[in-house]
Amino acid sequence: MNNIAVIGAGTMGNGIAHVFAQSGFNVYLIDVAQEQLNKALATISQNFDRQIAKGSATEENKQNALEKICTFTSLAAGVANADLVVEAATENTELKLGIFKQMDECAPAHCILATNTSSISITKIASVTQRPQQVIGMHFMNPVPVMKLVEIINGYATQASVTNAIVTLSKQLGKVPCVVNDYPGFIANRILMPMINEAIYSLYEGVAGVAEIDTIMKLGMAHPMGPLQLADFIGLDVCLSILKVLHDGFGHPKYAPCPLLVNMVMAKKLGIKSGAGFYTYTPGNKELIVSEQFKK
Ligand SMILES: NC(=O)c1ccc[n+]([C@@H]2O[C@H](COP(=O)([O-])OP(=O)(O)OC[C@H]3O[C@@H](n4cnc5c(N)ncnc54)[C@H](O)[C@@H]3O)[C@@H](O)[C@H]2O)c1
Repeated sequence: MNNIAVIGAGTMGNGIAHVFAQSGFNVYLIDVAQEQLNKALATISQNFDRQIAKGSATEENKQNALEKICTFTSLAAGVANADLVVEAATENTELKLGIFKQMDECAPAHCILATNTSSISITKIASVTQRPQQVIGMHFMNPVPVMKLVEIINGYATQASVTNAIVTLSKQLGKVPCVVNDYPGFIANRILMPMINEAIYSLYEGVAGVAEIDTIMKLGMAHPMGPLQLADFIGLDVCLSILKVLHDGFGHPKYAPCPLLVNMVMAKKLGIKSGAGFYTYTPGNKELIVSEQFKK
């Protein structure tokens, strides 16, 4: 495998392009607007500078990697020579189904079609293609250049040779692959989201405050971030939508999203990206400040 197309040049897409280019693959980065692609290239360059400052990359690595990345606003042109496509477009089922249909028509017959979706069924995505045996989940974690895990998700029809190829490839990127099967939330979010939801329920029921809940989980369980801080980092709208996928998929009340989470999303308190969630964020200030709403 030499040629990797990445669809979507947002948070995850630029990270995925970064790690493939750094490992010597040709990368075709695709997005709907050139402006988004330019922004992604600038982000990749800045993230390399950070790696250089830490001593984990050199200026030469950066230049070599940036030369490996070509950008496209046409999906058909971007996937035409790909051996693997990793789709990392916006988390929207209809959008992804449309992209996979088009990818299936335009990518070479041998090409593996992977998705970085956090929660959409791989089997459902595969069903709109003529090659469901070559469709697989390749779930990178944010920030991609830093996080070691790749959760690999076998759809109902994924062939063993395809899984093996993606496992080998993930190791080539210096990542640690873990293979799981296609059920709602896979493993990472099936376990993480109920923990976050339980933390929000504990706050909602007045068992403890924001700082106490996060401190207990950080110091007691050695988690690098408390669950409420992590929810703010992921985005409360994203947490809510994944919990809904678990709730719908399993039909079990234990996955029902906490009403406080639902209210916060309706109030547009989405976490870091909106400036406030459980904590309040001001640019340039790294101190964790509990939002006014949750101060006793
Ligand atoms: N952000 C995370 O922490 C995280 C972690 C793991 C997985 N994911 C998954 O990764 C995927 C991308 O998430 P993100 O956070 O990078 O989103 P994002 O909003 O930062 O980026 C999405 C990009 O997709 C582009 N896009 C939309 N429609 C497109 C199309 N038709 N063709 C090409 N590009 C298109 C958008 O312009 C945007 O640049 C989602 O499926 C998400 O669930 C996200």
